[in-house]
Amino acid sequence: MVTAAGPGWTPPGGGTDLASPARVYDYLLGGKDNYAADRELVHRLLAIQPDLSAVARENRAFLARAVGLLAGRGVRQFLDLGCGLPTHENVHQIAARHGPGARVVYVDHDPIVLAHARALLADDGNVAIVHSDLRKPDELRADVAAGGGLLDWTEPVAVLITAVLHFVADADDPAGILAGLRAELAPGSALVISHATAGTFPAEAARVAELYTTACVSPLVLRTREEVAEFFGDFELLDPGLAFTAQWRPRGERPPPRGQLLAGVGIRPPDRRDAVP
Ligand SMILES: C[S@@+](CC[C@H](N)C(=O)[O-])C[C@H]1O[C@@H](n2cnc3c(N)ncnc32)[C@H](O)[C@@H]1O
Repeated sequence: MVTAAGPGWTPPGGGTDLASPARVYDYLLGGKDNYAADRELVHRLLAIQPDLSAVARENRAFLARAVGLLAGRGVRQFLDLGCGLPTHENVHQIAARHGPGARVVYVDHDPIVLAHARALLADDGNVAIVHSDLRKPDELRADVAAGGGLLDWTEPVAVLITAVLHFVADADDPAGILAGLRAELAPGSALVISHATAGTFPAEAARVAELYTTACVSPLVLRTREEVAEFFGDFELLDPGLAFTAQWRPRGERPPPRGQLLAGVGIRPPDRRDAVP
């Protein structure tokens, strides 16, 4: 593996015997920032579900469409929770295409993601990279505030949590975490979520989740449409509501009729803000 921190570098506190969500996803997307354990898991996953690389690409494409839409609506602040390894088109680049001056805070708990992102994005004053775990909301809030103070919580913020929450176990109360997050967002703010579900091939999806959970540092939790919808609370879902990633406002070609990740964009309605932190 070639790392941003140089050959031979190993992540602080992070072993490489188990696969990691960031590196598995990187390999599925054709990236080079992965280890043997990640690649081996991907090959085993692909034997069960051969279209997983397409699922990963469709997720990135959904994220790009959602960010473009929100930036086009005037949102200038983005908080990318569980941002993953840098890829060929990152959120700040997509946002910049749709309007000047976007500020982006990238957050991940994987030290390898942090090392790569910092090496790549160090010179951009509108971008901060923060090491934090979204399962610890108090620390997350403090870490984001300390990470350059780029976000003004009195103005709309788009919170991106794509292909991340399925790595948060029920025991860590993802619904409670999301409720706390929503309460901090100003009217006009957005939640962009994609999440693994049983999808079109439920038996294969269940085997993928099982294998992932045994071979990876995080479990993979499939959730129902109702459970994913609950993460949006009273935020208003933009058309078409919750849909498979490829079917959420597709461009160009007719989207495939199958899907594995449910996706949506919810907007905090005006005049319903409970409390300003
Ligand atoms: C499959 S990648 C998704 C990357 C990006 N969000 C996307 O949609 O393209 C999942 C990322 O979430 C991160 N992640 C998982 N659990 C996390 C947690 N509790 N706190 C912060 N990041 C987390 C992983 O390290 C990984 O980088």
